[in-house]
Amino acid sequence: MSTPRARLAILASGGGSNLQAILDHLRSLGNAAPAEVAVVISDRAAAGALDRARAAGILAVHLPASESHTLAALLEAQDITHIALAGYLRLIPAEVIAAFAGRIVNVHPALLPAFGGPGMYGRHVHEAVLRAGVRVSGPAVHFVDTRYDEGAIIAQWPVPVHAEDNPETLAARVLAAEHHLYPRIVAALCAGTITLDADGTVRGAEELTSGRAIPGAPPVT
Ligand code: GRF
Repeated sequence: MSTPRARLAILASGGGSNLQAILDHLRSLGNAAPAEVAVVISDRAAAGALDRARAAGILAVHLPASESHTLAALLEAQDITHIALAGYLRLIPAEVIAAFAGRIVNVHPALLPAFGGPGMYGRHVHEAVLRAGVRVSGPAVHFVDTRYDEGAIIAQWPVPVHAEDNPETLAARVLAAEHHLYPRIVAALCAGTITLDADGTVRGAEELTSGRAIPGAPPVT
């Protein structure tokens, strides 16, 4: 008997390009897709992610921050098995973290544990990277806990920082890598290939820790 498909909830506050990349990747897998996106939830009514969900015929829910205590019930009502944060700017309630331990992930646009934490989102991340003068940045995918950007790291993909970069050019280069990396991590998590031990050890992500391991990925240079 085949394993039932995971029912994925995507939480997003912004445009939703990572949501779109996940939808496109799962569609490309056809019958072999290990998950379906069952609901997209946003704290912002105007989030482009909600428009993308509606366009794809997926339940789109605006859940204002003041209603976040209802998130657990919403996830349960939709039989959600896994959660992917995709540009979601709120902390996840502790009861949801506990219920989805090892089944909730996030993508961050810098190489955690550097350049993460409260206030480190969007343009602020890339400004900090450029200010620090580091030569490599890139997305990090990690399990989510009750703090910003601190859960166990699953995968990182190095992307070069060029001398002539500004926050926009760097963000675009990192985002392109996110779109390749994140859907594959989410799919592997939903397939049960990637797991989190009770002691925080991540297993099954070795093949996805570098862009070079991903067929069709753009070169790192
Ligand atoms: C991405 O850069 C992601 O790393 C961060 O928020 C951004 C979301 O972009 N967490 P989008 O809404 O998926 O286009």
